Amino acid sequence: MVTGIEIGRRDRLFLLTGAGVSAESGLPTFRDNGGLWNGYRVEEVATPGAWTEDAEKVWRFYSMRRRDALKCQPNSAHYALAELERELGERFFLCTQNVDPLHERAGSKRLLHMHGELFRSRCEADCGLPDFFDDKLYESAAEIPRCECGGRIRPHIVWFGEIPFEMDRIYSELDRCTMLAVIGSSGTVYPAAGFVDQARRSGARTVYIGPERPLNAAIFNDVVLGKAGEVLPGLFRIPKAG
Ligand code: OAD
Repeated sequence: MVTGIEIGRRDRLFLLTGAGVSAESGLPTFRDNGGLWNGYRVEEVATPGAWTEDAEKVWRFYSMRRRDALKCQPNSAHYALAELERELGERFFLCTQNVDPLHERAGSKRLLHMHGELFRSRCEADCGLPDFFDDKLYESAAEIPRCECGGRIRPHIVWFGEIPFEMDRIYSELDRCTMLAVIGSSGTVYPAAGFVDQARRSGARTVYIGPERPLNAAIFNDVVLGKAGEVLPGLFRIPKAG
């Protein structure tokens, strides 16, 4: 049983978080009992086809998620990762599949939202308008704003069938990491579920943290069973220099 993970002076840590890291903040995961995909069909709210078919339904789904996220606070797992970043500096990289802003609210900075961000929007057309902060709720088709180019404003979210953001940077961080920790992700959605393979091929030590074994559990060197908010504080140990 793993009780502590020592990070050596030359180690570089790559962290991948999934919905489980925000569960103790009160945000539902996708595939657990009572998860988001129990109440919604992915193809009706989270695909380019859904947007073409019924943009109002898509915006209602993301407006509901904006409303829920606004009520939540970071939990001790988010804070533990922000603290680890302060200790490791540029030897730390956090990639999250989550679109909520709880990592940054806890103080994380070396952070990449590979599936987009709930509180950002952009034009549906590739017109050059940069994505922008947006915390408004759009509940009807008439409320959906338009860009100057005439395109509709859509959530800055990676839908199924779209390519996650900044994959080049992610793969270069995976190549140079010596340790990879995945926290609260079921290991079902690619490419994220394949990061553990990639890291192991580069010789990294890999660990999963969550209450259940993920689908890709067999590939990890270690699996630490428990809730992120209970396990993470104090799990990683950095020996003092000297
Ligand atoms: P899932 O809902 O598939 O998995 C959540 C994982 O979190 C499960 O393995 C749970 O066991 C675990 N979990 C639950 N409570 C936890 C806790 N307190 N601490 C730690 N772990 C806990 O969510 P993801 O794997 O993140 O993509 O889903 C991946 C992607 O699928 C999402 O980013 C989203 C979704 O469809 C898009 O929308 C593109």
